[in-house]
Amino acid sequence: MPVNLSGRSFLRLLDFSTEEIEYMLKLAKNFKDMKRAGVPHRYLEGKNIVLLFQKTSTRTRCAFEVGGMDLGMGVTYLDPGSSQMGKKESIEDTARVLGRFYDGIEFRGFAQSDVEELAEKAGVPVWNGLTDMWHPTQMLADALTIQENFNYDIKGKTLVFMGDLKNNMGRSLMVMCAKLGMNFVGCAPRDYWMDDELIKTCEKIAAEHDCTVRCTEDVKDAATGADIIYTDVWVSMGEPEEVWAERIKKLEPYRVTQEVMDMTAKDSIFLHCLPAFHDTNTTTGAEIAEKFGVTEMEVEDTVFEGPKSRVFEEAENRMHTIKAVMYATLK
Ligand code: CP
Ligand code: NVA
Repeated sequence: MPVNLSGRSFLRLLDFSTEEIEYMLKLAKNFKDMKRAGVPHRYLEGKNIVLLFQKTSTRTRCAFEVGGMDLGMGVTYLDPGSSQMGKKESIEDTARVLGRFYDGIEFRGFAQSDVEELAEKAGVPVWNGLTDMWHPTQMLADALTIQENFNYDIKGKTLVFMGDLKNNMGRSLMVMCAKLGMNFVGCAPRDYWMDDELIKTCEKIAAEHDCTVRCTEDVKDAATGADIIYTDVWVSMGEPEEVWAERIKKLEPYRVTQEVMDMTAKDSIFLHCLPAFHDTNTTTGAEIAEKFGVTEMEVEDTVFEGPKSRVFEEAENRMHTIKAVMYATLK
């Protein structure tokens, strides 16, 4: 049966079959080819979308804005400072209003239950642009980047995520790997692993796709022969400043260093969803350096800037993949 995602919301990868994910990846590749060739693709002309952000963003916001405009749509951006959402109006009421104005809604926020409520009440497709639990649109960009680097033959490849496994990225990557037939290795201290229930769910999905998921505290065990090394910030949006001290202490041994990259496969790549703390050229980076004497956090600058790094290709792919999600669900 052909894949049909029309009218569906995109809230977490767990809700989508492998076939549906692969369909969106193929669409994304087509959109990327069209964009590169300068072929117009205003397939959703006459439609309008709204982007709701309770947290800051560069890539996700711009990917939805440019993607929406390339598809011919009108795009409205709303942050908590310039809308009634949250302070004076509930998510439910906001959803019921916006669902009457717009054909699709992007939401970035804190609780996964908020984006789910929005989707339930809006009556139009809702796309999760990141919550504390999941970051599904990032997964499509990551999968496309991995496909491009391994000649679209990604089954059996091993992705190692080092750092805070409990966060939206660690959790989402584990699901993505299991669904697409890639081995997932989480590498962190035991108290930074994701919950056992999610690990068990992913083990089951992985078994159906001839791959494995596992977590380890041992960097050498994880990195040796790996195809993809992935990391993310040690402190995610919405977490209090006070956790920095503990994170640095616990996660420093899990920084992606050149030594780690040297253990990986010859054609391995480095990925990071960005933004990344790889130097002190940011306000937070400079503050952390002053306070803790740490000038690079989750990744060494030489790795970030090095020949295996694909982080900016990955960032570009946010736009092509988000375009695919909007097209698939709104056409
Ligand atoms: N990777 C990502 O979601 O980036 P932004 O926070 O800039 O949207
Ligand atoms: N884990 C990070 C991802 C940013 C794209 C955060 O939630 O801040």
